[in-house]
Amino acid sequence: MTAVDRELKGAPGVTMDDRGPALSLTDVTVRFGGITALQGVSLTLEWGEVRGLIGPNGAGKTTLFDVISGLRMPDTGQVMLAGENVTRRSSIYRARRGLRRTFQRVQAFGWLSVEDNVLSALEWRGGGGGLAADLLSLRSRRRRERERRERVAEVLELCGLTAIRGELAGSLPIGLARMMELARAIVDHPRVLLLDEPTSGLDETEAARLGERIQAIRRDESCAVLLVEHDVGFVMKHCDRIVVLDLGQVLTVGEPHEVQSNAAVRAAYLGED
Ligand SMILES: Nc1ncnc2c1ncn2[C@@H]1O[C@H](COP(=O)(O)OP(=O)(O)OP(=O)(O)O)[C@@H](O)[C@H]1O
Ligand SMILES: [Mg+2]
Repeated sequence: MTAVDRELKGAPGVTMDDRGPALSLTDVTVRFGGITALQGVSLTLEWGEVRGLIGPNGAGKTTLFDVISGLRMPDTGQVMLAGENVTRRSSIYRARRGLRRTFQRVQAFGWLSVEDNVLSALEWRGGGGGLAADLLSLRSRRRRERERRERVAEVLELCGLTAIRGELAGSLPIGLARMMELARAIVDHPRVLLLDEPTSGLDETEAARLGERIQAIRRDESCAVLLVEHDVGFVMKHCDRIVVLDLGQVLTVGEPHEVQSNAAVRAAYLGED
């Protein structure tokens, strides 16, 4: 039994039972030496919601993603995932509870094909029961393998990657690499999806396709999406509500039109007086 299996076993129920909002942060603070990257940040994401997270460079957006996904422990505050306090849980544990993220810089296995990169995002599950069970139940193992391949094919198609599925991930132009990253993030039916600047490097057509994908994921799977994005037009178009971070603090939360007309936001984010 791995450490994560033990962690899951000790948890109150291993199935996602949606006892609360998809994600909720309370009073999160992170300091790096003298720098306060996040200060008392609270936010709640409902199921099926697409939430934008915007703010100037250094506002703390990526740090917030690190706290949510478990890569960084906050100095104070709490992270709840589907009603469960996961503040002290590992990132792998959170992934098993349906949390997925993409990174500001694409993270992929460059030496593997696009298809294998997406497949590998499913492999972490393992067969359940370990090697012995796999050896004893070759038929069910083959079935599972077929189902995985089918799911991967479906997601490659959704993301417009079918034609290049055999190409090495390391050789892809940035637009396609980003789509592959999205495919990796959605292949396992995430419940909460964190996307860090997903349109950076995409052309207009690719960004539009990505926007469609995001809308489909939230609609079909009630997945909650938190989206860091510098393309304000994209955020305004695709988000139900937007959080504005500035110097590690929440400046405001509102619907796109409210945020757009907020004077403090224009001053902090758009650099207007
Ligand atoms: N590992 C680290 N060590 C020290 N300081 C850090 C570290 N990571 C982030 N910071 C600092 O914390 C603050 C928030 O950084 P963060 O990367 O979260 O901002 P961001 O909003 O994602 O910015 P960008 O829009 O440029 O991606 C910045 O002042 C940054 O310099
Ligand atoms: Mg960032």
